[in-house]
Amino acid sequence: GAPVEVNISKVEPGQLIRVEWRGKPVWVVRRTDAVINELPTHDDKLRDPASAEMQQPEYATNPLRSIKPEYFIAVGICTHLGCSPTYLPDSFGEQVEGVTSGFFCPCHGSKFDMAGRVFQGVPAPLNLVIPPHQYVDDGTVIIG
Ligand code: FES
Repeated sequence: GAPVEVNISKVEPGQLIRVEWRGKPVWVVRRTDAVINELPTHDDKLRDPASAEMQQPEYATNPLRSIKPEYFIAVGICTHLGCSPTYLPDSFGEQVEGVTSGFFCPCHGSKFDMAGRVFQGVPAPLNLVIPPHQYVDDGTVIIG
């Protein structure tokens, strides 16, 4: 599949946009400062907090699993059996106490944080996949 160019210049803080790459849904989420600041606080609830299983390119192997802190880019497919998790920007605390935002898979209840890291005690074995990507300029990213 060809790389996909995405215009991210109009994505608002907290907003998620979906694009398709190689027949898969890819999410681009603009994380708020509050989300970015909260991410390191729940590492002890995660299965692979340091992303050692390498579900991301080398350049996104960092605490936020991204090139830029503000933008989270991931393949929107649950690592359990392939459903697409639901983005819960405000009500994720009902799933994991003390965590404001995240992704909930409706199929069997897997839970992921705003860096796509899987929480403990759910069926999904791995963090969400981060696709290869690069920024061309401030408003444009290429997936693939
Ligand atoms: Fe997501 Fe099973 S496919 S929890």
